Amino acid sequence: MNLAELKNTASRLMAPDKGLLAMDESIPTANKRFEPLGIPLTEEYRRKYRQLIVTAPGLGEYISGAILFDETIHQKTDDGRLFLDVLKEQGIVPGIKVDEGTVGFDGFPGETITEGLDGLADRLKAYHEQGLLFAKWRAVISITEKTPSTAAIKANAFTLARYASLCQQAGIVPIVEPEVLMDGDHSLQRCLEVTTEVLHAVFNALYEQNVAFEGMILKPNMILPGLKAANQTSAKEIADATVQCFLRTVPAAVPGIAFLSGGQEAELATERLNAMHVQYDNVMPWALTFSFSRAIQQPALDKWAGNDANVAEAQKLLVNRARLNNLARRGEYTP
Ligand code: 13P
Repeated sequence: MNLAELKNTASRLMAPDKGLLAMDESIPTANKRFEPLGIPLTEEYRRKYRQLIVTAPGLGEYISGAILFDETIHQKTDDGRLFLDVLKEQGIVPGIKVDEGTVGFDGFPGETITEGLDGLADRLKAYHEQGLLFAKWRAVISITEKTPSTAAIKANAFTLARYASLCQQAGIVPIVEPEVLMDGDHSLQRCLEVTTEVLHAVFNALYEQNVAFEGMILKPNMILPGLKAANQTSAKEIADATVQCFLRTVPAAVPGIAFLSGGQEAELATERLNAMHVQYDNVMPWALTFSFSRAIQQPALDKWAGNDANVAEAQKLLVNRARLNNLARRGEYTP
C-alpha cells in the first residue's frame, strides 16, 4: 500500500474550506430525481445534466472532489472534452462510486446489504489508471422498531472494510459511507444510539482488516430525529449529538469526515454543518465538511428541468449552494 499517495489524496479532498460534491446517482436514482420534473429518463439527458454541473463556472473554488458514476467517466461535453478532464481543469479531484447498490439481506426483513465486491480489485486498478483517485461505497441501515439487527450491522461493516482495504491496495482513497437513514419517526436519541453502534462496528472491521485510518474518509449521516418524528430538534442539539457521537467513535487518525445530506432540506443541512463548526471547531481532530448530493444539486436541478435555456441560471444556483456550504464549513453561514 502506498500510504503517502493515499494521505496526499485525502488531504487534497479535505482542503480547507472545500467539500465534496456527490454526483454519482445511479441510473435508477437519477430517474427518481428526473421523473417528477418531467425530464426524459435517457442517457443523453443525464449527460446534459452532468455537463451542466462539471462546466459550472467557479465550482472548483468550493469543491475539492466530485464523486462520479461509471457512465459519467466516459461522457464528454458538447465540444468533445471528457468530463474527467473538465473537472481536473477546475482543480477538482475525480472519484467514483464502486458499489453496485443494495439488495435485501436474506432472513432479515427490511434490511439490506450492499453488493459489488466481486471483481472489485480489477475495477479499482482500471479506475486508478484512468486518474480516479478516490471511491465511494454506501451501506444502508434503517431504523424501525425491529431494525437494525446486529447481523445487518456486522455484515455491512465487514463489507465496507473489505472494499476499503481493496481501495487502499489500488492507491485509491476509500470513502466509507454507512448511512443510517432518516426515514421514520424515531427520536434523535435513537439515531444517536444506532449510529454509535454502527460506527463502532465499522471502525472495528476497518481495524481488523488493516485499513489505514490515515488514508480514508468517513461519510456519515448527521444525528437527526426521523423525518416523521413529532419532536424536530434545533441545529444546536443536532450539532451537539453529532459531534459527541464522532468524538466517541471516529479515531483521530482519520483525516476527514464528509457528511451526506440524506434528504434534509438544503438550507437545513448547511445550517447544521455550520452549527458544528461554531460550537466545536477547537475540539475536533478531523476535518469536518460536506459530501452532499441533493443539498447542493436540488435547486439547480429544479431550475434546469431539462431545458437548455436554463443552464446558466441553474449553474449559478449550484455554485451558490457550494459556496454557502463552504461558509458553513468555516462556521460563517447565516441562514
Ligand atoms: P445525499 O447528499 O443526497 O444524501 O447524497 C449523498 C450520497 O452520496 C449518498 O450516497
